[in-house]
Amino acid sequence: MEKISVKVCLGTTCFVMGGSNLQELNDLIPKKYGDKVEVVGSPCLGLCSINWEYSKAPYVKIDEDVITEATVEKVLEAIEKKLGN
Ligand code: FES
Repeated sequence: MEKISVKVCLGTTCFVMGGSNLQELNDLIPKKYGDKVEVVGSPCLGLCSINWEYSKAPYVKIDEDVITEATVEKVLEAIEKKLGN
């Protein structure tokens, strides 16, 4: 099975809008999923400029899917779905 890629936006908008809480995923994901899921921080994903109100930040990308207003719970849920759990 291919690895699932999780990109956590570390751009200023996302970081300020709550992305700083998502740093927890860097520990959590490897512990929970080992090498099935890869988590990386990313510079601005370019999504905040599409939505001028920034109201949907922070953003996380899971493969090609975008999670808006991302929380640790939302991201884990989306990973579980992808893994078919
Ligand atoms: S800062 Fe996160 S998408 Fe731009």
